[in-house]
Parts: sequence; C-alpha cells; structure tokens
Amino acid sequence: MTDEVIAKFGQIDILVNNAGISTEKGINDTTLADWQLMLGINGFGPFLGMKHVVPHMAKEGKGAVVNISSFTAQIGMGLNSYSASKGAVRAISKAAATQYGRMGVRVNAVFPGTIETPMTQKLEESKELVNQMIKATPLQRLGQPADIANAVLYLASDEASYVTGSELVIDGGYSAQ
Ligand SMILES: NC(=O)c1ccc[n+]([C@@H]2O[C@H](COP(=O)([O-])OP(=O)(O)OC[C@H]3O[C@@H](n4cnc5c(N)ncnc54)[C@H](O)[C@@H]3O)[C@@H](O)[C@H]2O)c1
Repeated sequence: MTDEVIAKFGQIDILVNNAGISTEKGINDTTLADWQLMLGINGFGPFLGMKHVVPHMAKEGKGAVVNISSFTAQIGMGLNSYSASKGAVRAISKAAATQYGRMGVRVNAVFPGTIETPMTQKLEESKELVNQMIKATPLQRLGQPADIANAVLYLASDEASYVTGSELVIDGGYSAQ
C-alpha cells in the first residue's frame, strides 16, 4: 500500500493508524489465540504502519503520525486484551516520538472514550448501559466520530508543529475523575 501511495503521490505527509477490533471477553474467557489476534491487529497495525511509512516521511524531513489508542489504556475498564493492545499503542507512540523527532516526524496518540460507532453498537443497544455511561461522564454525552476526527486533524496539521509524544484524551472527562 505504501509503495502504491508513493508511486502515485511521491510522498506521504500524514499517517493515521486507526484500524482496530474490540472484545467483551474477560481474562478467563480469553484464549491465547484471542489475545494474539487482538495484539496482532491493534498492536502490530501502528508498528507496521510506522515501519513502512516513516522512512518515506524521513526522506522529506517531515511527517505526522497519529495513533489511535483508547482511554482503556489508562484506566481499568475491564476490557483486558483490548486494554493491553491499546497500552501497546500508547507505549510505541511515545517511543516512536523520541526516535523520529530528529527526523522531523511527529508522533502523537489519541485516547477516545466511548464513541458512537459500529464498534460500540452492542453497548448502544442497551438503553440502560448508555444512560449509565452518560451519567458517569462529566460532559453528559457519548462521543461522536467528529470529536475524534477534529483531534486527529489538529495533531496532523502544521498548527501542531511543536507537538510530539503527546496524549490527547477525548472522553468527555470520564477518565479525569
Ligand atoms: N468507538 C469507541 O468507543 C472507541 C473508543 C476508543 C478507541 N477506539 C478506537 O478507534 C479506532 C476506530 O474504531 P471505531 O470505533 O471507528 O470502530 P469500527 O469498528 O467502526 O472501525 C474499525 C475499522 O477498523 C477496520 N479493521 C479492523 N481490523 C482490520 C484489519 N485487520 N485490517 C484493516 N482494517 C481493519 C474495520 O474494517 C473498521 O473499518 C479503533 O482503533 C478503536 O479501537 C474506539
């Protein structure tokens, strides 16, 4: 994919590592294969994205990477393998920011709270759970995809040219409590 983009556009300015899966399984119900799949997609995705794209950014001396982690990487939400995979995204983002900064490439991580997308559809099917979540959130609503997109837009833009290694939590204040 990287080769195709380079062949067509000559350079890559922005990389957003967003693809991910989630689970509701607790630790005891999680098999080794479940754990490997979770870490494989959520953890290896940003690793592979940066490994293949950043060298092209470094050639240009500039680039912005935004990795999508989750507030579950910072607080105990009981999602175990998912939280662990997002913790990996958190750690690799910091490490990459220090490694790539001198090449002109910035790396930041975004930590969404509960956002209304297909991923949270199951939660949204229960009015009771949604109401509980809203009640527990200082800003009294669930997040929308645009809340995250706007943050990514900022971090990817030149307006954030002095921002790297940062962690932007977008969860309506949930994890600030
Ligand atoms: N929705 C939330 O409440 C929430 C909260 C915190 C973090 N996040 C994170 O935000 C990101 C986007 O999630 P979303 O809520 O839009 O979920 P989503 O399920 O709507 O979107 C996830 C996307 O990832 C893609 N994907 C999954 N596995 C893939 C693979 N192996 N290769 C390529 N693409 C793959 C899916 O096709 C889908 O388009 C994810 O990393 C997710 O963990 C979501």
